[in-house]
Amino acid sequence: MKNIVVSNTKSLKGSVNISGAKNSVLPLMCATILSDKVCELVNVPNVEDVETLKKVIVALGSKVEHINDKLFVDGSALNKTKATYGMVQKMRASILVLGPLLARFKHCEVSLPGGCAIGDRPVNLHLKAMEALGAEITIHDGYIEAFAPDGLKGADIIFDKITVGGTENALMAASMAKGKTRIFNAAQEPEIVQLCEYLKSGGVSIKGIGSNNIEINGSAGNLLTFPPTAVIPDRIEAGTYMCAAAILGSKLEVNDIHPSHLINVVSKLQEMGCQIEIEKNKITISRNKPLRPIDITTAEYPGFPTDMQAQIMAVMTQAEGASTVQENLFENRFMNVAEFRRMGANIKLHNNMATIIGPCKLEGTDVTSTDLRASASLLIMGLVAKGETTVHEVEHLLRGYEDIVGKFSSIGAEMKFS
Ligand code: EPU
Repeated sequence: MKNIVVSNTKSLKGSVNISGAKNSVLPLMCATILSDKVCELVNVPNVEDVETLKKVIVALGSKVEHINDKLFVDGSALNKTKATYGMVQKMRASILVLGPLLARFKHCEVSLPGGCAIGDRPVNLHLKAMEALGAEITIHDGYIEAFAPDGLKGADIIFDKITVGGTENALMAASMAKGKTRIFNAAQEPEIVQLCEYLKSGGVSIKGIGSNNIEINGSAGNLLTFPPTAVIPDRIEAGTYMCAAAILGSKLEVNDIHPSHLINVVSKLQEMGCQIEIEKNKITISRNKPLRPIDITTAEYPGFPTDMQAQIMAVMTQAEGASTVQENLFENRFMNVAEFRRMGANIKLHNNMATIIGPCKLEGTDVTSTDLRASASLLIMGLVAKGETTVHEVEHLLRGYEDIVGKFSSIGAEMKFS
């Protein structure tokens, strides 16, 4: 197990370049299952989740070449339709092979993902979508087995709860179905928009991109041909560095981003007293007054992202007064709070609401990562804590942040692996 040691840091400076989005590249890699041609993805982040998904699609029979930030996936020899427990247990997003495997091969078996540190995270809505498209689903021996002997048929898919992964599986499956599919109450995240654009560039007609009602005219079983595509910038990575600058009151340029994907994070950091300058592909954040307390409610895009609440909670520990965070997406996403308290934070928890009383003096100690975003928040806490903070089990962090220690060090953070 690796640890990261963060020492009290006076300020950050300079600029940081943001990598491609983990949560966009994963569905795009799964979408390559819909093609038997070589698919080229660029701006691919060098993170563990990409490595894990590479292994999954290679085990299914695809050939993968990864050169710097380019990924070439050749699905011409893809011939296996079982995603095993070992594959899915390591990374829940492996469930995203369900829709494309079923669409291409009319059959697949995918291990049921287990529980997860941030909540139960069922996949009932993914299955409901596949059933709407005509699949017969059985669950046996811990596996989802899906059959569509006559191929998938376009249908209405109505989600009673917004789901990012469920929408992605539905989009990929519908892309090769026969006829028209309408997805009602679809997720609208930028990662969903990119997947829609990718499928469209592969020859599928898609209307309503970016809205909550998406209409897909499937290819009726024909495989797709995708042009080279650049993965969108990682809005959560960008937001994480912005929170680090906010807590220290430093001026930082965050480059290679789409600022419009970060509007909610920007507006909350402004409310806390940060100055934010927005340019085409860049945000400059600075602060010269004390942090003000704020209230946050997590919601589906364009609401405040659940993937940013732990990082902004770290900033709230230094605000002058009581801030609140209401977590509405996952039932167990306050795992970082116990570790924050061990560093000296004053936080009260009541159901899905955390009240953070600031400002408080933080002290470095040993803390443990519980999930990807909680780990990032502990690094941010370590920047302002007195002395040294050792974050244990940072494997979580490496799943989704490219070269996080190198990037933080390059902007002046006192941070190293140990
Ligand atoms: N849900 C169901 N049934 C389903 C699917 C989801 O009840 O069949 C529930 C979930 O339990 C949760 C809510 O719906 O309460 C939203 O889950 P969603 O399906 O939208 O999440 P996801 O697709 O599993 C993605 C991101 C997460 C991010 C969430 C919400 C990827 C690979 N993962 O997960 O990212 O938190 O959307 O925005 O895109 C992260 O990057 O750290 C991360 C956890």
